Amino acid sequence: MSPLTPPPPFPSFSFPLEGDDEELEKLKRKIEADRGFNCQFYKEKCLRRRIAVRMRARGQRTFAEYGQLLDRDPAEYDHLLDTLTINVTKFFRNLETWNALEQQVLPTLFEGKGPVKVWSAGSASGEEAYTASILMREWLEKERRLHDAGRIQITGTDIDRRSLEAARKAEYPELSMAETPGPVLQRWFSPGPPFTLRPEARQGVSFERRDLISGEPLQGQNLIFCRNVVIYFDRDIQERLFKRFYDALAPGGFLVMGKVETLIGEARLLFRPVNNRERIFRRPL
Ligand SMILES: C[S@@+](CC[C@H](N)C(=O)[O-])C[C@H]1O[C@@H](n2cnc3c(N)ncnc32)[C@H](O)[C@@H]1O
Repeated sequence: MSPLTPPPPFPSFSFPLEGDDEELEKLKRKIEADRGFNCQFYKEKCLRRRIAVRMRARGQRTFAEYGQLLDRDPAEYDHLLDTLTINVTKFFRNLETWNALEQQVLPTLFEGKGPVKVWSAGSASGEEAYTASILMREWLEKERRLHDAGRIQITGTDIDRRSLEAARKAEYPELSMAETPGPVLQRWFSPGPPFTLRPEARQGVSFERRDLISGEPLQGQNLIFCRNVVIYFDRDIQERLFKRFYDALAPGGFLVMGKVETLIGEARLLFRPVNNRERIFRRPL
């Protein structure tokens, strides 16, 4: 293109960031009926932006047209659900949080004798759940308590089937390892990419599909991670979730949220802060 050639025109249709409410409602109902993904719980702006990403990728102008495309080409659903659920995650995401957990939470967690139950809620492809496993094993080793590793029970849950499949496979691309300290990488993964997690760190870790909002919560947990999940939910759903987490925790159990998230409403009275900066809270004993 010569420097004098005008740039190509901007795409001739604007994306549906507002308007078309009725069509959008229909599309939401369709997605729920076909794939059981309840769009009603998600922030409207977020949802529109994400659906627009897929519409643009497939050259569709209206929600109705895109709905028809989903009927003609159901494989598009996989791309749409990937886009809607935002599965981005990493091992040791926010390293400072893991350091704080090691110092302020692990000693208490392993004080007793029974199982140490950890729930990674919205686990995506498993990096968070496995990071918890690695952290605990390294700590136990340092404390000369490796015999306690058998007490670790970590459950990762997510709504997205493809992420869960990836979690069970435990093979990771370079991007997943970007925040992982070198020695940890060498010790716990086979050389990659893909970096395969060693079987020892997979022991006691399992994954299951569970919708955080409409599914049954786990019970009797000692530590719950719910990081970078609730930001996508409406405020009242967030409040409901925090209460569910409170019930899912054993007394004295810990809740860890994402760095950009915070407790709201009555939930603020339910939990005691352990480390405000790292978003670590505790259900009182
Ligand atoms: C950005 S990832 C967060 C992954 C990890 N917790 C972290 O912080 O790195 C958000 C995850 O929440 C999951 N998610 C979204 N809505 C959900 C729901 N209603 N029930 C269960 N999981 C959900 C998505 O599928 C996605 O894997």
